[in-house]
Amino acid sequence: MRIAQTKTDLREALEELNRPIGLVPTMGNLHQGHLDLMQWSTRKTASTIATIFVNPLQFSPTEDFSSYPRMLAEDAKKLESNGVDLLFAPSDEEMYPHGKETHTNVTVPEITATLCGQSRPTHFAGVTTVVTKLFHLCQPDMAFFGEKDWQQLAVIKRMTQELDFPLEIEGVPTTRHSDGLAMSSRNQYLSEEERQIAPKLFETLRHLANKCFTLNVDFRELETAGAKQLEDLGFRPDYVAIRDENTLQPTTKFTHDLRVFGAAYLGKARLIDNVSVNLGD
Ligand code: PAJ
Repeated sequence: MRIAQTKTDLREALEELNRPIGLVPTMGNLHQGHLDLMQWSTRKTASTIATIFVNPLQFSPTEDFSSYPRMLAEDAKKLESNGVDLLFAPSDEEMYPHGKETHTNVTVPEITATLCGQSRPTHFAGVTTVVTKLFHLCQPDMAFFGEKDWQQLAVIKRMTQELDFPLEIEGVPTTRHSDGLAMSSRNQYLSEEERQIAPKLFETLRHLANKCFTLNVDFRELETAGAKQLEDLGFRPDYVAIRDENTLQPTTKFTHDLRVFGAAYLGKARLIDNVSVNLGD
């Protein structure tokens, strides 16, 4: 596996890759969920590029940018043994040479204003800006994103379509621990006791998804009951929402594209998850 840390090295390394090229952007501190994305890409494409960049633009000043775990050497080994051909791991200066405050921004309206976008108002502009740069730099034919971050996946699909990027976006199912907790870099922030409670977020969302099938059900009442349940379990819920999974807008009708979304703090960690109503997952 080749490692490029500058745009010049990346451009040179790109010439050696066979198409189609798959791209898997990450912030490192890799777990099995990330590695499943790599495997998805290596199965579907001729070459896979992984990127590791803790993107300062997508963290607010009160979030964990400086404490976010960075372990490039360890991550590189994992990527190599999972069939990745090229790792692009640039510095902040390489990505934002004029500083991040005045950098050109790519913003996607509406779909970013709800759910996580409501409590993290600058987050998605940071994501879409860095992903735009990675698409231009790596020129992939396909890019892979996890369904765990469903809103991020939906935002990137919308941006790709509306800005006519010549590539296909593919969502990859959430990788979970055996007790149901979605794998996440931020699970490391949980105490032992909190780790026991954490899987109950998925359980609560799954329970709500099943309740959606009840005759004459009121989705808003279900959302309130779900948030209350999380609170009783020891979470500080940010939102529990039953939405159309494509537009992310509230709906009162039972359609085949419904999904239950949840975000909640547990100690220092902010956990998110989502469950399809259709499959009941
Ligand atoms: P990061 O949190 O490192 O996640 C990188 C990719 O791994 C994302 O597409 C995310 O959805 C996926 N992922 C994380 N946990 C997963 C799990 N348990 N199952 C399946 N996929 C999972 O998301 C980001 O980084 C950044 O916002 C990024 C897109 C790299 C832009 O900076």
